[in-house]
Formats: sequence, structure tokens, C-alpha cells
Amino acid sequence: MKKKGIIVSFEGIDGCGKSTQVKLFCEYLDRKGTEYVLLNEPGGTKVGEKIRKILLDSRNTIGSLSELFLYLASRSQLIEECIAPYVGKGGIVVIDRYIDSTMAYQGYGRGVSLDLIRYIHNAFVDVSLPDITFLIDAPARNLLTVLKNKKKDRIEKESLEFQERVREGYLRIAQAEKQRIRIIERRTITLTYEEIIKEWEKFNNGCK
Ligand code: TYD
Repeated sequence: MKKKGIIVSFEGIDGCGKSTQVKLFCEYLDRKGTEYVLLNEPGGTKVGEKIRKILLDSRNTIGSLSELFLYLASRSQLIEECIAPYVGKGGIVVIDRYIDSTMAYQGYGRGVSLDLIRYIHNAFVDVSLPDITFLIDAPARNLLTVLKNKKKDRIEKESLEFQERVREGYLRIAQAEKQRIRIIERRTITLTYEEIIKEWEKFNNGCK
């Protein structure tokens, strides 16, 4: 299928405030009268939501490769059911976590081969690559207080060292893909939001 629409993804380590920014970004699109579909990973489809439960249940012990395959299975389903058809019609997809999460968490965090992840992605992501990605960046130790009072899922229970590796991974991915990925330093909710909108408007004007 030939791509016509735009995929906007949001990335960052646990507790960075990404989901708040996704919500604010969507409210901005609503005010502009821009149509979009909002998705999240893992999940977003009936099967994907079942996979999400397995992945995030902190009682489950899951090996690194099984974990990788589950995230990819959820993504493959989401692309097939939602992303590809919508983008094919020219729509905007806003997605809370996408392919870079797998590179950062399973690749840099768990140590799974980055080449293997790229190879599998190449087989099914195809025209559904993100066009612009907002990476909300902060040192993992600064986010400990955010996560402290939360009932943690299986991934959030990982060590500070794990989250630091994920962050470093994200920064390396961004370094290699400067065209697509905008690193947004996590500041107050408003300042972070303003930076995202500034970058989005530059990108969007360039698309017109
Ligand atoms: P979620 O509750 O959606 O977290 P957040 O609000 O931080 O986005 O949980 C998703 C978790 O799954 C999160 O800790 C990151 C992790 N994850 C991976 O490890 N690999 C992936 O490919 C994806 C999409 C998420």
C-alpha cells in the first residue's frame, strides 16, 4: 500500500510525562480541526490488548526474546488493522510509543541484537514508518519520584540502570536519525508542550 498520511510517534522512558504530552498534542489538533487517530502500544487492537496484559503483568517472568516477539506481535496487528489502512487514506496517526521503544527497551535495555530487531521490523513495518517522533528526554534518576507512588507494571519495576540504558539507547537512536526524531527536553508540562508544538508546526508547514 502506498503511504499518503503522516505517523507521529511519542517516545521516552517511563515517567517522562509522554502520555500527558500526547493528550495535549491531540487537544491541539482538535482545536485546529485536524483529523487524526490516536493509538498506543502495546495494545490498540483486541488481540494487542491481550498481549499488553501479558507483557505488563508484573507476576509474569518473560524472557528477552519472548518479550521482543510479544511487542512485535502487538505492533504487527496494530499496523495491519489500524495504521496502514488509516495512513493509506491520508490520515494522521498519533501513536504513544512505537518502533523506537523496541529498539530502546529490548535492544539497548535488554541487550537483544539491534540488527535482529531492525531485520524483523523491515519485514512488516514497511510503509508505516514514523514521519516525525518526539522523544521526551530526562535522566532516569530525575523520574524516580514520578514513579514512586505508582503501582508499577513489569517494565516499570526494572532497575534504574535499566532505565538509564533505555535512555542512552533513545539518545543514540535520535543521534542517528536527526531528520525524524526531535529530542524534547522534559521541563514543565507547558514548556515541554510549547516545544513540541513549535517543532510540529515547523514540520507540518514543511509538508504543505
Ligand atoms: P505503558 O503503560 O503504555 O507505559 P507508558 O505510559 O510509559 O507508555 O507501558 C508500556 C511499557 O512497555 C513501557 O514500560 C515501555 C514498554 N515497551 C517496551 O519495552 N517495548 C516496546 O516495544 C513498547 C511499545 C513498549
